[in-house]
Amino acid sequence: MRQTNLESRNKVFLGSFVHSKVLDELEYLHQTAVFVDKSGTIVAIEKDCDESKARETVLPRLGWAEADVEVVKAKEGQFFFPGFIDTHIHAPQYPNAGIFGSSTLLQWLKTYTFPMEASLSEAAKARRVYTRVIRKTLSHGTTCAAYYATIDVSSTNLLADLCMGFGQRALIGRVCMDSELSPDYYRDASPEASIAATKATIAHIRSIDPAFSLIRPVITPRFAPACTLPLLRQLGALAEETALPVQTHISENKPEIALVQELFPRSLTGAADGSYAAVYDAAGLLKPRTVLAHAVHLTEGEADLVAARGAKVSHCPCSNSALTSGAAPVRRLLLDRGIVCGLGTDVSGGYSASVLEAARQAALVSRHVAFGPGGQERDKLGVEEVLFLATRGGAEAVGLGDKVGGFEVGMEWDAQLIGLGAIREDGEEEEVDDEEGGGGGAGNVDVFGWESWPERVAKWVYAGDDRNTIKVWVKGRLVHQRK
Ligand code: GUN
Ligand code: FE
Repeated sequence: MRQTNLESRNKVFLGSFVHSKVLDELEYLHQTAVFVDKSGTIVAIEKDCDESKARETVLPRLGWAEADVEVVKAKEGQFFFPGFIDTHIHAPQYPNAGIFGSSTLLQWLKTYTFPMEASLSEAAKARRVYTRVIRKTLSHGTTCAAYYATIDVSSTNLLADLCMGFGQRALIGRVCMDSELSPDYYRDASPEASIAATKATIAHIRSIDPAFSLIRPVITPRFAPACTLPLLRQLGALAEETALPVQTHISENKPEIALVQELFPRSLTGAADGSYAAVYDAAGLLKPRTVLAHAVHLTEGEADLVAARGAKVSHCPCSNSALTSGAAPVRRLLLDRGIVCGLGTDVSGGYSASVLEAARQAALVSRHVAFGPGGQERDKLGVEEVLFLATRGGAEAVGLGDKVGGFEVGMEWDAQLIGLGAIREDGEEEEVDDEEGGGGGAGNVDVFGWESWPERVAKWVYAGDDRNTIKVWVKGRLVHQRK
């Protein structure tokens, strides 16, 4: 297994930096220098600082030898942006991205998802798929992903090893599912077997990354209908005992919600009411460290409960549209309830491994919410807001809000260098990576030069893709470079 080698040199990043301050505000820092030490931590941010000032005044202050420093400059028009956080992605489903026909959730799971996931118990296939999904997500600027793997322990552990090797920050969840909703060929034999398998993955991750500095385990009941109540309760107890994060699905689609009500009546759970959220709450799974994917159809009471417990939401707009699940009223969850939300690609319910695509779809779906029944103008998410969800919101959702998601002293350097294309004065499109380029990126997003910085960022959100992602770093280490 390849180890994550800490980069041997300190780094100085120079140029323009864009990041979220608060939900609806981006900060633009130009002519700025960010100093990242060998451990990948930001130790200084200097405004009005060019390379010579950085060398002459800041390096001595930091006690860094010139020879020990790598300087990375953003060209004119390029900008550093925090790495994206994918708060919900199923690594083993990656080969199915785009393949869902006109199915909806429960039928989709049986037809496409369970067979693919089960087939990844074959080590060679798992290695192939997991290698590709990590490379692909890194190339889209995803520096941290909350992965669901499968029920198979060894291939789940392999996913952790591969993330470590490629240097992608990750939460790795061995999927727990022991109920009869799951097919015979893909089901935990008992709650005890499911717990033992979960502990085996936790132990493996502890053995490769004892401090969970890059990779951490996440307790992963697939969703209530795939689990028996004893399993949900034991996973709740394990979460309490280990203080590890939890991830699961909630209220994605209406037949799923009806199924939960049928499978988990109050007489069984002892919950305060018969709602989906109350089932998780009764099992001890609704905690501040819990990430709930979808939350499309939460009732008012459930939204109150989720907020009261401090649980987080992963908004998965691509998936919710693709599987006809619905349109989650995310801005209301954010503003009316104060629920922390991030974005999830939900590959392969979602067709794209790109968080930028999820951000764009979040903006569009919010417009559908706004013009739908009961919708309001205030349901619409702006560019600043979807980028907040993709970075700071996601980081907070997965428990890393103090480490990543923005550029601040003390945070780690998880970042991407973005370049947009440009049109020259003579009307010709610039070459990609043109030395004198206005953006130095790909011409898929044309910048004419008169746009303000907020306008450039809006163009990136609505028309950009991985062609604009030039370089990607995690914890100071270069993990992707566009060819
Ligand atoms: N609910 C239970 N399992 C899944 C899954 O794999 N994807 C989605 N989108 N929803 C689920
Ligand atoms: Fe999912």
